[in-house]
Amino acid sequence: MRHLLSVADLDAAAATGLLDTADRLKQALLGREVRKLPTLRGRTVITMFYENSTRTRVSFEIAGKWMSADTVNVSASGSSVSKGESLRDTALTLSAMGADCVVVRHPASGSAHRLAGWMDSEIGGGHTSIVNAGDGTHEHPTQALLDAATLRDHFRARGSGTIAGRRIGIVGDVLHSRVARSNVLLLATLGADVVLIAPPTLLPVGVEQWPCRVSSSLDAELPALDAVMMLRVQAERMHGAFFPSAREYAVGYGLSEARAALLPEHAPVLHPGPMVRGMEIAPAVADGPSSAVLAQVANGVHVRMAVLYHLLAGAPE
Ligand code: CP
Repeated sequence: MRHLLSVADLDAAAATGLLDTADRLKQALLGREVRKLPTLRGRTVITMFYENSTRTRVSFEIAGKWMSADTVNVSASGSSVSKGESLRDTALTLSAMGADCVVVRHPASGSAHRLAGWMDSEIGGGHTSIVNAGDGTHEHPTQALLDAATLRDHFRARGSGTIAGRRIGIVGDVLHSRVARSNVLLLATLGADVVLIAPPTLLPVGVEQWPCRVSSSLDAELPALDAVMMLRVQAERMHGAFFPSAREYAVGYGLSEARAALLPEHAPVLHPGPMVRGMEIAPAVADGPSSAVLAQVANGVHVRMAVLYHLLAGAPE
């Protein structure tokens, strides 16, 4: 694997290979007092974030550190980006300093692909891998991988870790969600039966081409789901307009305690975070026994370790 730009780059074997590596790394670190593997000693991983992040940026930094890579964080506000330096010049500058991997988050869809093209060009030198940590409304592949890792753990603890054949609901603002797009692609690749549940105004044009079914009734779908993934309402991408309103959204698509009770007992509740409690999900559900939210965060570190491992050390035997 040269870059990780899109879930579409992963077939079922490649995705399962990454998830298996994440499992092995998790086991390797379990119970250790010193969480440090020598795997990426001498490698440099730079996170370059043009949008805010807690989970993704910090977990990539932890993932690199736990594998002994040198990790450096660059944010738009504290760098020469604020003086007007372009994405291309910033990335080529980091590559010239010897970055083995640049993890990028950027508001423009397609920016990670552009970056990979520049890195692979003669001027880029071809030695820097790019990881897409979220590009506009397009994709967030490591979020989908950590969600799949969390589902596998949850189902494995109840008999079988397989995702194939499970019915997974993805609920909310699909229109602006890179998490939804990556999850639909990955879950379908792994054989799940995916249903998007959203108000019609928050569905993208062309959604009928996606490998999933679409529904507008959360109450009708919940009893048959094996897992439900709530989405964050991406207010920052709505430029003031938001229909339905926050109140209407909560009434129609928020996971209240009463709604969560419609889910089968075995079905976990996922949310990529940050959560808007009260609108997207009731606090009692977010913190309740079915919530996998913090398990998702924990798996984020192991999945990102696996991604760095596959990119910088080659896929393990
Ligand atoms: N889920 C997610 O991408 O969270 P952050 O924005 O905190 O990284």
